[in-house]
Amino acid sequence: MSTFDERARARAEQLKKRGHACILAIESSCDETAAAVVKDGREVLSNVIATQIPVHKRYGGVVPEIASRSHTQTLVPVVQEALEQAGVTFDGIDAIAVTQGPGLIGAVLTGFNFAKGLALALDKPLVGVHHIQGHICANFLAFPELNAPFIALAVSGGHSHILEARTACDFTLLGATRDDAAGEAFDKAARVLGLGYPGGVEIDRVSEQGDPRAFRFATQVEKEDNCDFSFSGIKTALVNLVHTLEQKGEPVPVADLAASFQEAVVRQLAEKTMRAVTAAGSRTLVLAGGVAANRALRERLARMCRSAQVSFYCPPPDLCTDNAAMIGAAGFFTLMNGSPASADANAFATGGLPDFFGGAD
Ligand code: KG4
Ligand code: ZN
Repeated sequence: MSTFDERARARAEQLKKRGHACILAIESSCDETAAAVVKDGREVLSNVIATQIPVHKRYGGVVPEIASRSHTQTLVPVVQEALEQAGVTFDGIDAIAVTQGPGLIGAVLTGFNFAKGLALALDKPLVGVHHIQGHICANFLAFPELNAPFIALAVSGGHSHILEARTACDFTLLGATRDDAAGEAFDKAARVLGLGYPGGVEIDRVSEQGDPRAFRFATQVEKEDNCDFSFSGIKTALVNLVHTLEQKGEPVPVADLAASFQEAVVRQLAEKTMRAVTAAGSRTLVLAGGVAANRALRERLARMCRSAQVSFYCPPPDLCTDNAAMIGAAGFFTLMNGSPASADANAFATGGLPDFFGGAD
């Protein structure tokens, strides 16, 4: 009798030849339990998200242990709902795609093992997806005409990467943060300003009422001729400013500080990204990840791309933040270009995108 791996590989080969696949996708790397059904990497048949934000809000951030337990409770109903909304049964699913990492390891493991169990029980191929590849592939859902090559800025709670995508599965890292990720910086800034969780959304909202030129937060990295980011210096400057004002008993101008902080992060992201686009001679820029929902960042990059005659793509905000449809899109392209995960594949907590396709885990 053939093994699960042999059958999965044979089935994947058939799907490759056919060039079509209906994928059930699962995402559980942080605080959203999500499942989706995606056709051919481009068409969303359903996209169900059970957010844990209300649970973690009272702690001011994600509590990993609570996140893992909550995924375990929610995965089955979320998958059932995704199938129902798509109007398909397990029989209509060709493969199962799942976030393999990076993320909170306990959280990733719940979804990954659930998906592996499902793949074994249904005897269908399992596709492991790198979470950041998923974010980038959200653009293929929003823009059916989009194809690689392009430059991607992937900015989330854990990543700030500029990547060159030659295909949907072939990436080179052009630049990255040396310290905090952009989303992490937004979340920390929101906390020190007494705003809620998740912080990026609150900074975005409050900044509308503030003056982005009220304070200047600048860093050395902006002057450097490279595509690297650094956000911890800006964050420390903000923390020190707020503490000094509090010690003096002076009011904290929350909206002006939020707007000025956002301006500093957005300026750095936009300028370094456009530098990478120019250096690579690329005509297409793709924005991805939770921070891609930020209005100031979207507007700034759209403007800069217009004047540089570069095509700019950015998914609608609900496809920027964590969801499973993006994992379904990435899973399709990985299935068509690579091989399915083996029965002993494991989840991972950290690791860059180019390495994922180089065989690291
Ligand atoms: O991609 P994502 O949903 O999860 C991770 O993979 O980390 O990104 C979450 C991050 C959080 O740090 C959150 O504060 C940030 O994205 N974020 C935003 C906005 N919406 C979410 N940051 C700035 N502006 C927003 N509108
Ligand atoms: Zn994410």
